[in-house]
Amino acid sequence: MKNPVRHPGVNGSNPAIKDGVEILIDGKRVVATEGELLVEAILREKEIPHICYHSPLMGPIQTCDTCLVEVGGKLQRACGTKVAAGMEIAAESERAKKARSEAFDVILGNHMLYCTVCDNNNENCRVHNTAMELNVQHQEHPFKPKPYEVDMSNPFYRYDPSQCILCGQCVQACQTVQVNETLSIGWELDHPRVLWDGGMQIGGSSCVSCGHCITVCPCNALMEKSMLGEAGFMSGMPKTALDKMIDVVKAVEPEMGYGAIMQVSQTEAKMREERIKKTKTVCTYSCIGCSYDVWTKGRDILKIVPLHGDANEISTCVKGKFGWDYVNHKDRLQAPLVREGNGFREASWEEALTLVASRLSAIKQEYGPDSLAVIVSSKCTNEDGYLMQKFARSVLGTNNVDNCSRYCQSPATTGLFRTVGYGGDSGGIENIAKSGLVLIIGSQTADSHPVLATRVKRAHKLHGQRLIVADPREHEMASRADIHFRPRPGTDLVWISAMSRYMLDNGHAKLDFLDKWVNGLDEYRKSLEPFTMEYAASTCNVPLETLEQVARELAAARSIAALWAMGITQHTRASDGSTAISNLLLITGNYMRDEGGAYPLRGHNNVQGAGDIGAAPNVYPGYQSVTDPEIRKKFEQGWGVALPPERGMDNHEMVDAMHEGKVRAMYLAGEDMISADSNANHVAGAFEKLDFFVVQDIFFSETCRYADVVLPGAPALEKDGTFSSTERRIQRLYQALPELGDSRADWKITQDIANRMGANWNYQHPSEIMAEMAALTPLYQGVTYDRLEGYKTLQWPVASDGTDQPVLYLDGFPFPDNKARLYPLSFREPEEAPDSDFDLFLNNGRLLEHFHEGNMTYRVSGIQEETPERYLEISTDLAHERGIESGRWVRVTSRHGSLVIKALVSHRVFGKQVYLPHLSQEGPINILTGSHADEATNTPAFKETAVRIRLLPEQGSNPLKPINPRFSGKPTPQTGVEVERKWKRKDYRLPGTDVLVQIQPNK
Ligand code: SF4
Ligand code: SF4
Ligand code: SF4
Ligand code: FES
Repeated sequence: MKNPVRHPGVNGSNPAIKDGVEILIDGKRVVATEGELLVEAILREKEIPHICYHSPLMGPIQTCDTCLVEVGGKLQRACGTKVAAGMEIAAESERAKKARSEAFDVILGNHMLYCTVCDNNNENCRVHNTAMELNVQHQEHPFKPKPYEVDMSNPFYRYDPSQCILCGQCVQACQTVQVNETLSIGWELDHPRVLWDGGMQIGGSSCVSCGHCITVCPCNALMEKSMLGEAGFMSGMPKTALDKMIDVVKAVEPEMGYGAIMQVSQTEAKMREERIKKTKTVCTYSCIGCSYDVWTKGRDILKIVPLHGDANEISTCVKGKFGWDYVNHKDRLQAPLVREGNGFREASWEEALTLVASRLSAIKQEYGPDSLAVIVSSKCTNEDGYLMQKFARSVLGTNNVDNCSRYCQSPATTGLFRTVGYGGDSGGIENIAKSGLVLIIGSQTADSHPVLATRVKRAHKLHGQRLIVADPREHEMASRADIHFRPRPGTDLVWISAMSRYMLDNGHAKLDFLDKWVNGLDEYRKSLEPFTMEYAASTCNVPLETLEQVARELAAARSIAALWAMGITQHTRASDGSTAISNLLLITGNYMRDEGGAYPLRGHNNVQGAGDIGAAPNVYPGYQSVTDPEIRKKFEQGWGVALPPERGMDNHEMVDAMHEGKVRAMYLAGEDMISADSNANHVAGAFEKLDFFVVQDIFFSETCRYADVVLPGAPALEKDGTFSSTERRIQRLYQALPELGDSRADWKITQDIANRMGANWNYQHPSEIMAEMAALTPLYQGVTYDRLEGYKTLQWPVASDGTDQPVLYLDGFPFPDNKARLYPLSFREPEEAPDSDFDLFLNNGRLLEHFHEGNMTYRVSGIQEETPERYLEISTDLAHERGIESGRWVRVTSRHGSLVIKALVSHRVFGKQVYLPHLSQEGPINILTGSHADEATNTPAFKETAVRIRLLPEQGSNPLKPINPRFSGKPTPQTGVEVERKWKRKDYRLPGTDVLVQIQPNK
């Protein structure tokens, strides 16, 4: 079976590609690319075994020897040989075939073929398939189990050393793709095996359960626990019976040969195909857009298989790979609920929808359309969201519609609109990976955008990319950076503007580019007058030498990709901070090219899409202004109704308007606004004042407690649709499971309400919704479901012929004169900062394992086992000063509220800064944060909160569980598998040769 081979060069994995050259493969003339791996060229022509070779992304590993061919008469590994002009390859010679069979025989010494009762026998086992392909009948090297226990200590997967063929793909994936650097192979051991942190058990090692190693493992040595005993018809039998069956197989093998046995297992694999459903979906957690197949058996989710995604290829993080228990959780809402007194009772859809429609109609009638408001979910599909904003505008008659990007991403969008014209990443993950320097500001990328972070870690580790991180906290990317510095919170605009001034003052600005493509240089240069390096050093509290070093790095960089997130966008001057970054990218000429650029990292899986489809008070889909009469006319014609001409309220304004009695009813989908907005008490008070409140969700969230009607929506696995990732990448997801109980796909619910209010919509499938949107939206005009079939993706803007734009601005900027705009800025101190009463700065954000408030991840048992509770990270200095040990209960108090939590002493935070993860089972972070917000967008200034802590008498246990990777993990970085160490073993012999030989690595 072929591996998931992709074009060379993806993610910088094979940079040495030149023009086509001719080579001879078994006498046939073939054109190949000079410098590509020979195995790739051969596989385009014919099958040859290649067990340890996975893809260009993983590169040659050279541990299995099953790809041996003759090159110019010499046995060479096809995966470890680069194509050169005139090469003569004999892949089918007797010598090469014999060598490959011998190599596979060695592998069988490390792996018992019990395929019929193996959970990995699903037509994609590469050991099984190679045995079939080579027509293996008997083995020379007898199977010898290794003297190690099966390791079951990780909640999600297990390692069986005795089935491990030592191919090293897991190590390669962990060291060079995920770059967590946990795995190695103990080649010098008497019985080599894979090692976690050099020899720990898995649970408690530095393993972050990303799943890369399991995804690439070619056999059953590494397997998801959710597959064990589930995939096969007979694999679930008790262990003693299973062992007996395996013994029978081994007993008959010498006489019968493997042929007949493998035929049985092949038949079983075929039967499994029929009951295991494989459905392509897109991750429902963060915005990277990881796509993969989900394997289901009935409603059981067996595993996630990433291989083909344009954004992620083989990559996942713990949430995407293992975070699916919530879908079948007992807490799922399965029927509509209607308020009765202080509680709720189940109701029929008919009753619930009729109630919703009649109450919304009555309130509209009595108080006017603008007394109604709609919140669209950033977790739902583009089609769900499109219908909700259409419902708000065309049925309710109001532009009071928004989504949760208001809480994080709107300032980034504003900064980009001000300067370059589109509110999206200027390139894709691949373009970040190609960049000469990555500048991360206020983003804990490895926690919040883990798969994107892998590509930066990889480029930094393997391809010489420079990495600079500005962040108060020493998160993983900061600890890997070439320079990490900690600007005083809320002052980033100052040092970033100082960098722009430095470039202009010292001859590093790209003046040709500015002259041709950018307006406003003179005014901007004048605005930079205050921003000297000295001023930046004193204002930001960063040593002058550090800033100068950063400036020199930026000046010298071939290209700069700036990544930023909530550390920038959750301040009172957040839009200005984002604008400053874009200004700097213009000054350094980092737009209009396929490396470098602006990457405001989005939050939820479809937060980009929620903005794109018009879930905002001022724009229709595709960021078309609601106040532009021409555009409004287009939508009026498209939707067949008159539309409101004025901008509506954003969600911050909606909350204030509820308090004032102006907004009297709300329809909210898929957002726990109580936990997500900046001031929980203020929001709760607003909801209490509503006349009518409809919440649509998959769980009964905090917000549901204030509802009059709760409608059960459906999670991504239960519906068709599209998501748009941070790269502007539009991708299809397919329904893997039926809607649970009486729940319904969200677009169906909105359509039902709309029709009860007289809309007469008749969408039968989300593809029809997308077709309507594309017809009205220039950015999406060429988007069709056909063009997105399977794993196909499009990055907007998409022209009518389907041409998309992975990199924006290659032909200029979307302003009337085609030029970008420098935007002058000034600095003002943050609104809230530590003082003598509240002496600590409260930082906050995500944790890798949990997503936001944790409504989904708290319902994943493995995540709960590893990370069951949150904690307040305090620095070692503060711990020493106040006598605090990990596990001590403390009361954290801000000017706005107070909560009780355990402390964790951590080297990641510094001095008088503390860090509180967002997840909120024990009380949301926004009990502590105030209502102050970004001036331009009303995005809450979560990162401008001062607190004090008081020690409580109770000393609890350490909030980190011993199996958590942060507890005692100690990674073992190396450049890959280090196969040379295997070749140095005394018992190593190159198959096909008679004598023990030492092969030199292919450099
Ligand atoms: S891992 Fe593959 S080859 Fe090994 S027993 Fe299972 S199906 Fe057979
Ligand atoms: S971090 Fe853990 S799950 Fe991820 S590749 Fe490494 S060992 Fe495997
Ligand atoms: S555990 Fe690692 S080394 Fe062993 S077979 Fe799987 S991928 Fe190969
Ligand atoms: S595929 Fe070439 S050595 Fe394994």
